[in-house]
This record gives sequence, C-alpha cells and structure tokens, in this order.
Amino acid sequence: MPGNKKSSLSPFFKVVTIVGARPQFIKAAAVNRAIAAFNKNGRQIEEILIHTGQHYDYLMDRVFFEELEIPKPHYHLGVGSGSHGKQTGIMLERIEEVLQKEKPGLVLVYGDTNSTLAGALSAAKMHLPVAHVEAGLRSYNRDMPEEINRVLTDHLSTFLFCPTQQAVKNLSKEGIKPSQGKLVENVGDVMYDSILYYSRIAEKKSTILHDLNLANPQSEIRNPQYYLATLHRAENTDDPRRLTSILKALNQLGKEAPVVFPLHPRTRKMMEIFDLFKKNRRIRFIEPVSYFDMLLLEKRARAVLTDSGGVQKEAYWFKVPCFTLREETEWVETVRSGWNRLVGVDVKRIAAGVRHNPRRNPAGEKMFGDGTASKTIVHRLWRAFH
Ligand code: UD1
Ligand code: UDP
Repeated sequence: MPGNKKSSLSPFFKVVTIVGARPQFIKAAAVNRAIAAFNKNGRQIEEILIHTGQHYDYLMDRVFFEELEIPKPHYHLGVGSGSHGKQTGIMLERIEEVLQKEKPGLVLVYGDTNSTLAGALSAAKMHLPVAHVEAGLRSYNRDMPEEINRVLTDHLSTFLFCPTQQAVKNLSKEGIKPSQGKLVENVGDVMYDSILYYSRIAEKKSTILHDLNLANPQSEIRNPQYYLATLHRAENTDDPRRLTSILKALNQLGKEAPVVFPLHPRTRKMMEIFDLFKKNRRIRFIEPVSYFDMLLLEKRARAVLTDSGGVQKEAYWFKVPCFTLREETEWVETVRSGWNRLVGVDVKRIAAGVRHNPRRNPAGEKMFGDGTASKTIVHRLWRAFH
C-alpha cells in the first residue's frame, strides 16, 4: 500500500482538501461527512479545507456550504476569475504557502478544474502525496481545459480514486496502474453518494417547483411538463456559432414545454456579449440554483439538456433522459445505457435527438458504485498511512 507509513499507533492524520468550483463543493461534502463519521470511532483525521475562490458568487459558492453543511474553509485564497495561466498561477503560489504552513500528510483534490490542477501541482512539487477523487476520466479532447487538468492531475497523483471501471481502464492505457507506489481503484462515484444522501432531504426542503409554477402534484411524476437545460463549457459558451445554435434549439423546444435554464455566470456573460437574450425569449432563464433545487428540477424534468458532467450523471441516476450538447463525453456508461445521447450543437440534430425514444437499460445498475465511495476513500487513506 502506498503512503508514508507512520507508527501504527499514530491516531492523527492531517489531510488538506482543495476545492474552488461548484461541483467540487458537492463532491467534497460527501467525503467531509465520511471523515466525520470515521472520526466518531476515536480515530482522528484532521481535514484542513482550502477554498481557492475560483467560484465566488453566492449562488455558485456559499449556498452549497450552507445547504450541505460543509465546514467553513480554513483558508480562502480569494483567487477569483482570470485567464487559465493567471488563475492557476496565483492558486499555485497561494496553495504552496498554506501547504508549507500546514505540512499535511496528504493533499486531496477533486475533478478537473484549474483548482484541481493547482492543488495537485503545488503538492507534488513539495513531495506531498496527492489523492485524486474522480481520477481516470477522459474525453480525449485536448481542446477542453478540463482534459488537460485531468491528465496532469492523474499523472501527479499517488491515490487515484476512480468512479467507474472505465476510468481504471483509461488510466491503465496511460501506464497508471496499481503498484507498490500507487493505488488505483474503482471506488464508485462520490456524487452518487451525495445524490443518495441528499435527494430525500431535497424533496422535503426544496420549494423550487412551486416557486417556478412547475408543480402539479397530480401529474408531475407521470407527465413532467418541462425541460431542464444547463450550459457552461467554454467550447460552447465562448463560440458564438455554437452558443447561438444551442440556444436556438432550446428556444424551439420552448414551443412544446417550458425550458428551465439555470444560467451559469459564464454563459450569462457570453449571452450578453453576443446579444442572445432577445432572440431566445421562450427559454426560461433563472439564476443558478442550489443543489437541493437542482436535484428536484432534474428529478421531475421531462428531459435534461446539458454540457455538464455532473448533470449527465444525475439525470442517469434519476432515470431522466439526457441529451448532451457535446460531441463526446467522459461518462460513456450513461450513453451506452441508452439514457444519455450525444446531440452536439446543431439545431436539427438536437431536435431529432429529443424526439428519438430509444430502448433504455434500467438505470441503477451499479456502474457508479453503491453509494459508499466516500467511505471507501477515507478507509483507504487511513490504511495507507497507519
Ligand atoms: C469551471 C471549470 C469547469 C467546471 C465548472 C463548474 C476550469 C477550467 N473550469 O468552469 O471544469 O465544469 O467550473 O461550474 O476550471 N464567474 C462569475 N462568478 C463566479 C464564477 C465565475 O461571474 O462565481 C464567471 C466569470 O466571468 C468567469 C467565468 O464565469 O470568468 C468562468 O469561470 P471559471 O471558474 O473560469 O470557469 P467555469 O466556466 O466556471
Ligand atoms: N448544479 C447546481 N445548481 C445549478 C447547476 C448545477 O447545484 O444551477 C449542480 C448539479 O446538480 C451538479 C453540479 O452542480 O451536482 C454540476 O456542476 P457543473 O455543471 O457546474 O460542473 P461539471 O459537473 O460540469 O464540472
């Protein structure tokens, strides 16, 4: 087992967790809860939370800490927005300072954002072991900034916690295999842990369907009356041709049923720049929503149209058809199962995709684990160091 083994009697283990963007708050919440549960047995994992500040609007950031009861970060680096180089560079500098001060046994990073790469690189340069949660994902599209972040982070990591068997295979193709010095394991998906834990709470707490006038208690489950859309990938939002085309398709869909669209700030900014609000009045744009609200919106939607990684999976777990506004996806299992269809950005292709009603394998096979990914991660890390 990898890791710098300490005395088997050592009851103490310090982990620095690095987050910065919306999906990372949701993933880190699951592992944070698992650490708290683990510590109840008299063991002591101390988790120091660093927030890079990559996301900072209340609805992209604090709302998740409040709703998911994530402890307040010990360090907030206030990095904010910027070009890739600038944002990642400032993160590197500030993370290094914290790691020098905290001297953790391990650095834990999530997913594929600039915060992920900055965390992994700072740690690796300081010879600290890195654990990557959601390791091994590949789109094989190097134009995506996320693909670069994933590949580099995986190659810097000692503990590669994969959400699927496919992710383990992807790593193996790059020569990243379990060995004396490395743990590579399909532990399942921490986002699946989250959805299992929070969706019942969300049912009780969220009022979003009523607030948006979408709730019809008689029919909402059998005959959902709205589509849910999200979009934020740079390759879609920053290219006027692609963005215009996707919005046109969604606007046309709005003739059939409301299209509810929680708008990522990046997409809002680009729509303003390209003057796309006036042309797409049938789409019901709303502010980004909280996690509980999002779960409810997904669960009751007729279908989901998205370029988000997390949203594709959540649609699959809720057995809601998903149409992915991209040419490829990292979450190939959801496509193979029939629940997710790659429809790209072309207006006609999106319209045809939504009308198509393929055979769908029953969702819920254990392709993403059994909801205990976070617990497994905590146990593996503890064992590696004790
Ligand atoms: C980032 C991640 C992406 C992830 C997404 C989750 C990278 C390269 N991208 O994309 O992998 O899927 O987060 O949502 O790390 N902005 C605000 N307020 C905020 C945050 C962002 O207004 O709180 C605006 C700014 O104009 C900023 C733009 O959104 O320039 C993009 O933000 P950034 O964090 O760079 O990338 P995301 O598109 O959010
Ligand atoms: N999400 C949310 N509110 C929103 C949009 C998304 O809570 O308005 C949640 C969603 O349910 C999922 C996660 O954010 O859990 C996905 O994050 P995002 O789409 O920003 O990034 P990605 O998964 O593509 O990296």
